[in-house]
Amino acid sequence: MSRIFAIGDPHLSRARPKPMDVFGDNWAGHDERIFAACRELVGPDDLLILAGDISWATRLVDALLDLEDIGKLPGTKLLLKGNHDFWWSSRAKVERAVHESIRLLQNDSFLFGDVAIAGGRGWTLPGDEWFTDEDEKISRREVERIRLSFESLAGRKYSHLIAALHYPPMNSRHEGSEVTELLEHYGVETCIYGHLHGDGIAAGFVGERNGIRYRLVSADSIGFRPVEVAHAKPGVL
Ligand SMILES: [Fe+2]
Ligand SMILES: [Fe+2]
Repeated sequence: MSRIFAIGDPHLSRARPKPMDVFGDNWAGHDERIFAACRELVGPDDLLILAGDISWATRLVDALLDLEDIGKLPGTKLLLKGNHDFWWSSRAKVERAVHESIRLLQNDSFLFGDVAIAGGRGWTLPGDEWFTDEDEKISRREVERIRLSFESLAGRKYSHLIAALHYPPMNSRHEGSEVTELLEHYGVETCIYGHLHGDGIAAGFVGERNGIRYRLVSADSIGFRPVEVAHAKPGVL
């Protein structure tokens, strides 16, 4: 039996170190603490989902230092894009450059044993006063990308379905959205997401709704230690 872990927002910056403790004392030495916790918890047969905001780098060549560190961690690492991952412009280029234990989730889905993982970056959702016309455009596009990810599951065999997102699937009032509709339609059991930090953590919905368990996994919301979100059996039931 393999285990599936998740953590979001490592916000690494080995090329141009960016001290994160400006965001709070709890961020001091966060990168080493995340890596140590991953080495302690995640085994070689396990999967670690990194739910976006991987690196502050803006160019792939700089992000590669962070991706190298991630590649050395035990197990398979499944990465998705966050709003800060400007280095991730070409999927093919990233895939060519990273260790084979790193996999990308982008407009597609990933099978790990009998567990399927689908999702994507997402965006701010309607219903909050700061939601602009520009957000509306981006949000629509991102929902379509998440839909593509779920559609890519057609014909694939799995027993459990996890949604991995960077942005929360609900607005700050915890209203349903096109994203939650997709998760419900496809029978997601657990949805993990990141992006919310510091005071923003309180705005994230955590708990069960309409049969789906929602879990915020941004690094600072989980003490910089990945959390176990599911088990996977080698075959498909
Ligand atoms: Fe983010
Ligand atoms: Fe973040």
